[in-house]
Amino acid sequence: MPGHSSPIGVFDSGVGGLTVLRSLTEAMPAQSFIYLGDTARVPYGSKSPDTVARYSINIAERLIEYGCRALVIACNTASAYALGAVRNAISVPVVGVVEPVSALVARRSKGRVLILGTSGTVRSAAYLRALGRHRSDLEIVQKACPLFVPLAEEGWLHGVVPEQVAATYLSETLEQHRPDSIILGCTHYPLLRQVIAGAVEAAGLDATLYETGPATAGELRAHTDSRRPVPSSRGTVRYLCTDNPDDFVAVGRAFLGDSTITAEHVDIGTSPC
Ligand code: DGL
Repeated sequence: MPGHSSPIGVFDSGVGGLTVLRSLTEAMPAQSFIYLGDTARVPYGSKSPDTVARYSINIAERLIEYGCRALVIACNTASAYALGAVRNAISVPVVGVVEPVSALVARRSKGRVLILGTSGTVRSAAYLRALGRHRSDLEIVQKACPLFVPLAEEGWLHGVVPEQVAATYLSETLEQHRPDSIILGCTHYPLLRQVIAGAVEAAGLDATLYETGPATAGELRAHTDSRRPVPSSRGTVRYLCTDNPDDFVAVGRAFLGDSTITAEHVDIGTSPC
């Protein structure tokens, strides 16, 4: 049985979930994590609910074989479509990214919320349901911004191309809906935060941008070790991916701003070493 010194598993469709992992390691520096990016099957954002649920259960079961004591579904699309299925499939606590940030935004918003996500996350309406559970008076609009994912993967985070993409996706919605709170409901969007903030400013708005990581870290701590004294040693992070580790490392280093990370290939469907 996993104990308090066991790692916590974090998974995503690929490298994007590293933006969430960063918040988790900051909030729980003594905790060890295993991050698994399903790079062989990315993207999840355009796939059907059944496929995303099947992949997510598959990955979650694999992380349990590595002895994880809790799991974080860092992927918004997987949290939207598969949180219940993963919780049913395994017996350790499972935290998704949709609910924690929704609870935070419901507390803080002045009433007008914009949700940015993948097509799958938008279609699932998971954020609408989560926000609605906390407040019934919110005016909420959703917007899928699929091109943000490849832009982030390519490292095109600044300059004319991402600015034009952001303006094309967002200008009309921002001007018409005039949100005070914007949820970056996709793992990759925090990397384009500056460009998104630029579009918000260009629309003359003073909206707060919310990432999923910090709120998710708060919920994870509440589910796992809030009563434990923090040990003095630093936790480790082991990176696994289902496709070429060199590609994962190249993008992952840029995402994390850490040139030291290494990754191992894991073959989903065979036993861990
Ligand atoms: N990780 C996904 C999400 O947060 C974005 C990338 C994908 O489409 O798989 O929804």
